Amino acid sequence: MRQLYPFPLEIVDPDIVYAQEDRPVFADRPYLLVNMVSSLDGGVTLDGRTRGLSGDADRELFHALRIFPDAILAGAGTVRAERYCLPSLSVEQQQQRQVRGQARLPQLIVASARLVFDWDLPLFLHSSDRPLLLVPNDVDPVRREEATEYADLLMLSRSEDGQGVDLVEGMRELRHRGIKVLLVEGGPSLNERLLSAGLVDEVCLALSPLLLGSEAGKGASRLFGHAHLLQPVSFSLQQVLAQDDFLFLRYRVKT
Ligand SMILES: NC(=O)c1ccc[n+]([C@@H]2O[C@H](COP(=O)([O-])OP(=O)(O)OC[C@H]3O[C@@H](n4cnc5c(N)ncnc54)[C@H](OP(=O)(O)O)[C@@H]3O)[C@@H](O)[C@H]2O)c1
Repeated sequence: MRQLYPFPLEIVDPDIVYAQEDRPVFADRPYLLVNMVSSLDGGVTLDGRTRGLSGDADRELFHALRIFPDAILAGAGTVRAERYCLPSLSVEQQQQRQVRGQARLPQLIVASARLVFDWDLPLFLHSSDRPLLLVPNDVDPVRREEATEYADLLMLSRSEDGQGVDLVEGMRELRHRGIKVLLVEGGPSLNERLLSAGLVDEVCLALSPLLLGSEAGKGASRLFGHAHLLQPVSFSLQQVLAQDDFLFLRYRVKT
């Protein structure tokens, strides 16, 4: 992979450059970075999934970003559409995490308002690495009971709009549990709520060399849905990598 910015380098290892970035530790919430892939015209799915936008280079970056965070958060819609699995790290990467004082694997966290899952999904089949579900405390009690067989639950207050959990409270609880760096893998609805709540610090955007147009891009959401912002959020460009016609842009929110 080549680096184009902040200075040109013929070869960089994304496993190293993304992990070695200096990220602040906050007292009341994790530092939050969002990783997404987008078509040139801003679509985030092809036929309802990311696979059609992705490629070897993008998959390499996707895995590189999973090496260093304490936890990974995804929305229930993404978990269902993409049939989520646990992160797969090499033995060496797992050992390096433990040397840094982290768990062997990043904790997988899923936000869900309704708890409607196919419990046969691969991520629910590991009794030693159970995912953590962020769930409103008034969720259907039967679904809640069923879910406890497959996952740990973090019960939280409902958000003001009633659509899910209060994400500010959720992030505070995760920080209390020791999570300092949280990678968010979408999808757009969850991204939208995190951005609207002012919780996003960094965006890693893979630009896929595809233009979807109106037919192929039908129904495709935007990266951050329709985030309710009173003012545009400004970002500063941190890094640009390139491989196989993909561009990998890393931005930080300007404070
Ligand atoms: N291009 C990319 O990089 C990328 C990345 C990820 C996903 N995607 C695509 O995006 C699509 C899924 O995105 P999406 O926007 O439909 O769904 P999503 O954001 O993955 O998930 C939405 C669901 O997450 C839960 N949720 C969201 N906010 C919540 C909150 N505050 N509290 C509790 N639960 C909350 C709700 O779960 P319940 O349904 O349980 O109520 C909600 O229906 C898929 O097609 C996927 O392939 C693309």
